[in-house]
Amino acid sequence: MLIVGGGIAAYKSLDLVRRLRERGARVRVVMTAAAQQFVTPLAFVSLTNEKVYDDLFSATDEQEMGHIQLSRDADLIVVAPATAHLLARAAHGLCDDLATTLLLATDKRTLYAPAMNLRMWLAPATQRNVATLKGDGALFVGPNSGEMACGEYGPGRMAEPLEIVAAIEAALQSDTRLSLPGAEQGALAGRHVVVTSGPTHEAIDPVRYIANRSSGKQGRAIAAAAAKAGARVTLVSGPVTLADPPGCDVVRIESAREMLDAVERALPADIFIGAAAVADWRVEAAAQKIKKEQGAAAPVFSLVENPDILARVAHAPNRPRLVVGFAAETSDVIAHAREKLARKGCDLIVANDVSEDSGVFGGDENEAHLVSRFGVESWPRLRKEVVAERLVARLAEILREKEAAK
Ligand SMILES: Cc1cc2nc3c(=O)[nH]c(=O)nc-3n(C[C@H](O)[C@H](O)[C@H](O)COP(=O)(O)O)c2cc1C
Repeated sequence: MLIVGGGIAAYKSLDLVRRLRERGARVRVVMTAAAQQFVTPLAFVSLTNEKVYDDLFSATDEQEMGHIQLSRDADLIVVAPATAHLLARAAHGLCDDLATTLLLATDKRTLYAPAMNLRMWLAPATQRNVATLKGDGALFVGPNSGEMACGEYGPGRMAEPLEIVAAIEAALQSDTRLSLPGAEQGALAGRHVVVTSGPTHEAIDPVRYIANRSSGKQGRAIAAAAAKAGARVTLVSGPVTLADPPGCDVVRIESAREMLDAVERALPADIFIGAAAVADWRVEAAAQKIKKEQGAAAPVFSLVENPDILARVAHAPNRPRLVVGFAAETSDVIAHAREKLARKGCDLIVANDVSEDSGVFGGDENEAHLVSRFGVESWPRLRKEVVAERLVARLAEILREKEAAK
């Protein structure tokens, strides 16, 4: 059940419904009166093929399905956007409309995706209400930091629809009775998986750095898929603005050397997946900001090679049984991946084309080729979450085969 509150982010809940429907979920929508100022019930009716509920005192609805039954019928109640007002009412057990009555009457878990202006979010009253709801067992996803519809910048943006989907999947997964259709249960149960993701930032001086265009989306999706498959996941993430994937231990780092350090601390593991775009080189960072002097020549930097994290893990004394690298290439993708496989000593390379017109860096889709000493398996262009789920399923299979062959 999706409860839609009266916030500007209500339009994103239309996309959330679409994403859930794509994954085979049935979604029943309840709207507050304020929500209907932002999106129409008809839009949700069209997307869900279900009646949209909004009236506590509707004689017809009450006769067809009473509000108590409605509150118990769902596997999970998701409130998105969760307005400051809804959080306040829920925290205090008020039930002056259908949405809050369902929240009080339900026997299921509740997941809130707050969305509001940053001052509203940071207000002590809202923070008290959130703490109360968390204390009562409610789950939360977001809010994220970023630019608001009102033009201010800070925490309060609703989590993106796919982040909410991941939180829903994690909530259903942790409730052993339930799961979204198609979720492979337990293929990596009892395993430890270490994933790296995102770019690294290599400092030039205290205010400048060298970076790359990696968004961290693919690595995060892999971490989330591995957690969903039952693994204990350590995600070592470079600087990105994405929310942490649910159910993972996240270590945030900035530079390649910090990433290596965090990975070495996280080992031993059964599987290592190096999806991060680690900078090959750094400069020796200046301790103070490099000043632009009138008439002086531009500074010249010489690059120093960074440690090769993938090769280090592949040759470590406590080498994970499966070491998987990513090859982001702009030409001769498979040939470069084959060469990287041999040079780094890993078991598998996931190669992808990141040339500008591929839209892979920062985009939501990826076209992956799995290169191993047994050959190449090419997948069509797929959403990064789907690539992640397929990859995790393949790795679980390869791990089982390796162990059986031993
Ligand atoms: C243009 C506009 C945008 C709003 N956006 C938000 C918002 O993002 N988050 C929020 O908590 N309230 C927002 N509000 C205020 C809520 O709509 C208001 O508190 C309402 O009573 C919430 O009702 P509900 O919680 O029953 O949906 C907004 C109001 C207006 C006029």
